[in-house]
Amino acid sequence: MASKSTFLSILYFLFLFQIIKSDISSQNTNSSAFEFIKNLQGCCQKGSKVQGLHDLKLYLARFGYLNYQPARNQLNANNESFDDELESALKIYQKFYHLNITGTLDGPTISRMLMPRCGHPDIKTHQQMPKWLHTVSHFQFGQNNPKWPVEKTNLTYAFPKNYSETYVSPVVRAFNTWAAASGYFTFSRVDDFANADLKISFERGDHGDGAPFDGPSGVLAHASLPTDGKLHFDADENWSVGPEPVPNTIDLQSVALHEIGHLLGLAHSEDENAIMWSSIPAGSLKGLNSDDILGVKALYIVT
Ligand SMILES: *[C@@H]1O[C@H](CO)[C@@H](O)[C@H](O)[C@H]1NC(C)=O
Ligand SMILES: *[C@@H]1O[C@H](CO)[C@@H](O)[C@H](O)[C@H]1NC(C)=O
Ligand SMILES: *[C@@H]1O[C@H](CO)[C@@H](O)[C@H](O)[C@H]1NC(C)=O
Ligand SMILES: *[C@@H]1O[C@H](CO)[C@@H](O)[C@H](O)[C@H]1NC(C)=O
Ligand SMILES: *[C@@H]1O[C@H](CO)[C@@H](O)[C@H](O)[C@H]1NC(C)=O
Ligand SMILES: *[C@@H]1O[C@H](CO)[C@@H](O)[C@H](O)[C@H]1NC(C)=O
Ligand SMILES: [Zn+2]
Ligand SMILES: [Zn+2]
Repeated sequence: MASKSTFLSILYFLFLFQIIKSDISSQNTNSSAFEFIKNLQGCCQKGSKVQGLHDLKLYLARFGYLNYQPARNQLNANNESFDDELESALKIYQKFYHLNITGTLDGPTISRMLMPRCGHPDIKTHQQMPKWLHTVSHFQFGQNNPKWPVEKTNLTYAFPKNYSETYVSPVVRAFNTWAAASGYFTFSRVDDFANADLKISFERGDHGDGAPFDGPSGVLAHASLPTDGKLHFDADENWSVGPEPVPNTIDLQSVALHEIGHLLGLAHSEDENAIMWSSIPAGSLKGLNSDDILGVKALYIVT
């Protein structure tokens, strides 16, 4: 959040894919950045003050559910309070994820929050989508609908020198999948990383774009909306390359499909079966579905 203004000024939206084990309670593996949420289950009701609620507010703010920007170096006595704003943020969260709208930190809500997910906000707090889109589909576009200009239908992509050959083909397959599904874009791999439209790289920790990765099981990947063209995978994740799902690993091709959706201008979908749904469990594979395809067609062909 600290670098929010930087993002806005360069129209650089980052998408952080956060993966943890799909069944939290049965795992004794190391915690993720979301682990603190586990301690909040059933912790409290409106009006109570509990340690961890400040972090929960930051979590909800990061994903677009709450306007919470505590000033630095400024004591806020209420930052651990379960206030009205937190309750309504929880309700919006529960609505997005098709949970019971209780406004409390019940079990299903906690489990959902612990799930692997992308760091891109689910909710655009300052923009309403046209209603008709919601009636037929669940896809969303980025804020102000950024997209590639009409003359850019053949996008180039490149990998840097340090990119492992192992991880090339899953990404190439993901591009080919989107090309076929969109019926609009073609993607061509080029060598010139610096001048490619889309730059795919593995990055580790704080890597200079204001959205540091957080080690294993933390942030997985992020990508920018058009036309910045950056896709970063977290080098600290346990990646796998299929074709079968590998337990406790993250399928690179599935995440690449999701992040390429962002590169093309799609935001998160409320359709759990869409690749643009915000999360993917470890040890699973996922492909495009009709909601994803409708989304890209609506952005480039219909509109
Ligand atoms: C996992 O957590 C344990 C206990 O906190 C720690 O000793 C260990 O180094 C951690 N392992 C990894 C891979 O982070
Ligand atoms: C909010 O609460 C946390 C945890 O108690 C504390 O460390 C932090 O300084 C507080 N932040 C503000 C802005 O009050
Ligand atoms: C919603 O509440 C009902 C009734 O308590 C329960 O049966 C159901 O499992 C809940 N659904 C979710 C998604 O939590
Ligand atoms: C797309 O661009 C690449 C690189 O400039 C070029 O090699 C390729 O022929 C182009 N493809 C199409 C379909 O225009
Ligand atoms: C690989 O190279 C790219 C491009 O120079 C750089 O941004 C990235 O940090 C490098 N990745 C790792 C894991 O060092
Ligand atoms: C990565 O996944 C492999 C395959 O399941 C597993 O053997 C290995 O322990 C995992 N490594 C980490 C650090 O989780
Ligand atoms: Zn995402
Ligand atoms: Zn990055």
